[in-house]
Amino acid sequence: QLVRFLVFSASLRRDSLNSRLAELAARTIEANGGKVDRATMREFDVPSYDQDAQEQAGFPLGAQEFRRRLETSDAFVISSPEYNFSMPGVLKNAIDWVSRYRPQPFNERHGMLLSASPSMAGGNRGLWALRVPLEHLGARVYPDMFSLAQAHQAFDGDGRIADRQLQEWFERNVVGFMDLVEAAKHYVCAKTA
Ligand code: FNR
Repeated sequence: QLVRFLVFSASLRRDSLNSRLAELAARTIEANGGKVDRATMREFDVPSYDQDAQEQAGFPLGAQEFRRRLETSDAFVISSPEYNFSMPGVLKNAIDWVSRYRPQPFNERHGMLLSASPSMAGGNRGLWALRVPLEHLGARVYPDMFSLAQAHQAFDGDGRIADRQLQEWFERNVVGFMDLVEAAKHYVCAKTA
């Protein structure tokens, strides 16, 4: 039984560096025997969270879609830009909507966080901010976060990381995460068999 990963970038930008990194993660997962569900943040487009709107009209389509895609995957991989040392508002807003579902879909779901930025920090501070709501929601956030610095000049023509050592480090991180998700899935299957 293949392990299935929901992979998406939290950037809406056409030439997004994070979308390139998300695609590289997706290809790495597939090359190592995993199944990938590629999503875009546009599919999870939601209005600003408003509790009155939720009570009156229920969940918007983007939130329904985000929940469905999370629940049909074993784990998620997000490549998120860093906006002002935090995550983009669109991502936080989508997480807020989904967090109101019961059962709450992030609970006990494994997740890996990636970031890409033209800066030297690679967007890493944004990932520390993103960990907080996800861990609060019970997500099993992989300890190794990968942040690609100077990402505007980091990719080669094939969409891989041009620096060989860094590309190998990236692959090891992704495969390490896949191994953990697979082991956890087998453990749960064995427990419930
Ligand atoms: C940024 N950017 C940015 N970069 C960074 O490393 N740390 C930061 O705090 C911020 N803050 C920030 C705020 C806002 C509102 C914008 C629009 C941008 C720059 C950001 O990393 C850069 O635009 C990336 O290219 C965004 O990611 P995508 O869209 O290329 O995936």
